Amino acid sequence: MATEPVNVSEFQELAKQALPKMFYDFYSGGAEDQYTLRENIEAFSRIMFQPRVLVDVSCINLSTTILGYKISSPIMVAPTGMHKLAHPEGEVATARAAAACKTIMVLSFSSTCTVEEVASSCNAIRFFQVYVHRRRDISAVLVQRAERCGYKAIVLTADTPRLGRREADIKNKMISPQLKNFEGLLSTEVVSEKGSKLAAFANGALDPSLSWKDIAWLKSITNLPILIKGVLTAEDAVKAVEVGVAGIIVSNHGGRQLDYVPATISVLEEVVQAVGGRIPVLFDGGIRRGTDVFKALALGAQAVLIGRPVIFGLAAKGEYGVRRVIEMLRDELELTMTLCGCRSVKEITRSYVQTERDSLRSLL
Ligand code: FNR
Repeated sequence: MATEPVNVSEFQELAKQALPKMFYDFYSGGAEDQYTLRENIEAFSRIMFQPRVLVDVSCINLSTTILGYKISSPIMVAPTGMHKLAHPEGEVATARAAAACKTIMVLSFSSTCTVEEVASSCNAIRFFQVYVHRRRDISAVLVQRAERCGYKAIVLTADTPRLGRREADIKNKMISPQLKNFEGLLSTEVVSEKGSKLAAFANGALDPSLSWKDIAWLKSITNLPILIKGVLTAEDAVKAVEVGVAGIIVSNHGGRQLDYVPATISVLEEVVQAVGGRIPVLFDGGIRRGTDVFKALALGAQAVLIGRPVIFGLAAKGEYGVRRVIEMLRDELELTMTLCGCRSVKEITRSYVQTERDSLRSLL
């Protein structure tokens, strides 16, 4: 392969070459049979375009606004843990790339750089993702530190009362390093010899009693807007609107939690319809091409987040690699819009795509 990758999957190949097997497996893998992991990607290939021709596409505008923040394209950075296992500069490199691309980065609760280090490294617009720890004070301290250093929203990950069963991590005895964010608060290091140390740590830390009632608690400890990440059904989308959050992220955690949930792109439209425009709906899972971004927007997402592609870029080429991944997806999206006859993100509507359900309906 030429050293300059031309698409996300070539970045994945470079990341595989660059990383120790334990870390590559951790980043790329999913839960159990990895059905959902594969389906997240494959379901995109069953959605077809219905382009319009003879539209003046000499000027394409990709910019959009999320919670009032203007970004250069509807492609944001999803929260993913432990970037220093991919590159020594860790989340600071990722944040700088997000800043260069004028987009939003969601920093993971399980980051290897601290919330303060990431905040002072650049002027990226940052959101902070939170897991609720059995000791609520620990999550509260992190949320308040993030708020103090200028993060703009809290993303509550709701699909992880326990960690999904990731069998590669079990076999590789995936490590759980001490995370700097928690120094003085708790030890995240696990030294057992059995299975995934990361899973052992996470399952002791995550609070499985977390419920819809606790959104009130989260609201009581922060003034920042709250997004719920991990919604997959219309029913939960309606509940999210009812508890008064600022937005939701349709996500199945990149196929790393419950295996055999549908691809996120297959449930997006149902969630969007249930929300009915009352709050923004964001999307992640399986985005590897600009065409995927377009499809998610056509089915009602305001923006998408990318998880693994960012890590592949980081592992392969550090900050530059992350920037290239975001730019490549942005350029592919621009070309897709041009060839579909859409001049702005607003012009990307449902009528530009045909889903499997549409084809079935037309047979009836
Ligand atoms: C994740 N994801 C995740 N989500 C979250 O809320 N907090 C976290 O710390 C992590 N950590 C994490 C690590 C790794 C290695 C991966 C691959 C994923 C899930 C992430 O935010 C997002 O939902 C998925 O990555 C989206 O799917 P793609 O883009 O990876 O296909």
